[in-house]
Amino acid sequence: MPVSRYDRLFGHVASITGLLNAAQIEQLFAVVEMGEARDMATAAQRKGLLSGDLAASVAIIASELAARRIAEDISPRAVVGSGRSPATDARLYPKSLGDYRNLKQIARGAMGIIFRAEHVKDGRVVALKVLPLHMVQDQREIERFRREIETVTALDHPNIVKIIAFGQDDDFYYYAMEFLEGRSLRELIHDRGHLSPFYAAELTRDAARGLAYAHAHGVIHRDVKPSNLMICKDGVLKIVDFGLAFKKQSPNLTATGLSLGTPAYMSPEQIEGGRNEVSERSDIYSLGVTLYEAVTGRRPFEGDNHYDVLKRVLFDQPPSAIDLNAGLPRELSEIIGRAMAKAQQDRYGHMEEFAKALEGFIEREASA
Ligand SMILES: Nc1ncnc2c1ncn2[C@@H]1O[C@H](COP(=O)(O)OP(=O)(O)O)[C@@H](O)[C@H]1O
Ligand SMILES: [Mg+2]
Repeated sequence: MPVSRYDRLFGHVASITGLLNAAQIEQLFAVVEMGEARDMATAAQRKGLLSGDLAASVAIIASELAARRIAEDISPRAVVGSGRSPATDARLYPKSLGDYRNLKQIARGAMGIIFRAEHVKDGRVVALKVLPLHMVQDQREIERFRREIETVTALDHPNIVKIIAFGQDDDFYYYAMEFLEGRSLRELIHDRGHLSPFYAAELTRDAARGLAYAHAHGVIHRDVKPSNLMICKDGVLKIVDFGLAFKKQSPNLTATGLSLGTPAYMSPEQIEGGRNEVSERSDIYSLGVTLYEAVTGRRPFEGDNHYDVLKRVLFDQPPSAIDLNAGLPRELSEIIGRAMAKAQQDRYGHMEEFAKALEGFIEREASA
C-alpha cells in the first residue's frame, strides 16, 4: 500500500515535535507500505512507538492539515530528512578540541553542545558549539552545521554573536564564538517572572535590529525564542543559534517549515509547512511571541503536550497581553498582537517596521 498524504503529514507532525526520529518514521512508512498496518497511527501503536492517546493526537492534527489542503508537497524523504533523534548522546566529550582547551559544558540544546573553553596560546575565552556525536553519523546534519557556520560568519552586526574560528577534530565538528557573559532571555524571564514593558521593548527592539540586518542579507533565523537571545552583562542583546536559519538562494537543507524545537514559538506557517512559505514575517511572529512572554511571564499558547500547543498555535486566538497584565500600556499590547497575527499579511511588513514601532513606544514612554 502506498504511503498516503495523510501518512506523510502524520510523519511530518511527529517529526517537528521530536516525538519520532527519522529512523522510526522510516520504519513506520515501511510498515504501511507492506500493508502490515492501514495507516501511520496504527503502525506507530503496533510497533510500540506511540501510545494510543498520542497517536490519536498526532492523527487529529495530521487530518486537520490534510483537510486544509496545505503541506501538499511534503515528500516522505523530506519528512525523514528532517527528523532528529533526541539528544541523548551520553558519550564523553574531550577536554580539548583543536586549539581550545579546558572545555566545560555550559549548555546543551537540540542541535549543539555549548562549552566554555580557552585558546591554548593566548588564553582567550570562547564559547564552542559542538555538533552532538549522534548527528555526526548523518551527512545532512554535518552539512547543516557547515551552513550554520557559513551563515553566522557572513553576518556582522552588534546584536548578532560573532564567530571566531571553526574546525574539526576527529569526530568533533565545532565552531568558536565570542563568549557571551550573561544570561539568556529565557533565564531572565524565569528568574524575574516577567520584565517591565520598557525593558522588554528595548530588548525586543535590539533583537529586531539584528534580525532586520540578517533579513537584509537574505537570512531568516526561523528559531527566534528567549533561549536564543543572550543578554550580556553590559546590557547588549545578542542573537545566537542560526542552526535552523534559511538562506535565500541556496538549497534548503531543513525543508521549509520542518524544524524541531519548542512549538510554542513556531509560526502557523512553520507548522503547516508546504504552501504557506516561511518568510521574514515568521521571525516577526516568533519575536512577537517572545515579547508576549517577556511582559506577561506566560506563553500565549500552552498545552499539556506538543500537540495541544501545535493545535492552539494553528487554531486558537490567545488572550491579548494586556488581558494577562493589566499594567501593560495598550500600545505595546497592540504591537505584540500585530506581530503575532496568524496570517502573515496581517503582521508588520518587515522587521524594520516592527523595530520602528517598538522604538516609537520606547521614546513615548521615556518622555512620559
Ligand atoms: N556565545 C555564547 N556564549 C555563551 N553562552 C552561549 C553562547 N552561545 C550559546 N550559549 C548558550 O548555549 C545555549 C544553547 O546554544 P544554541 O546555539 O542555542 O544551541 P542549540 O542549537 O542546541 O539550541 C544558549 O541558550 C545559551 O544559553
Ligand atoms: Mg538554541
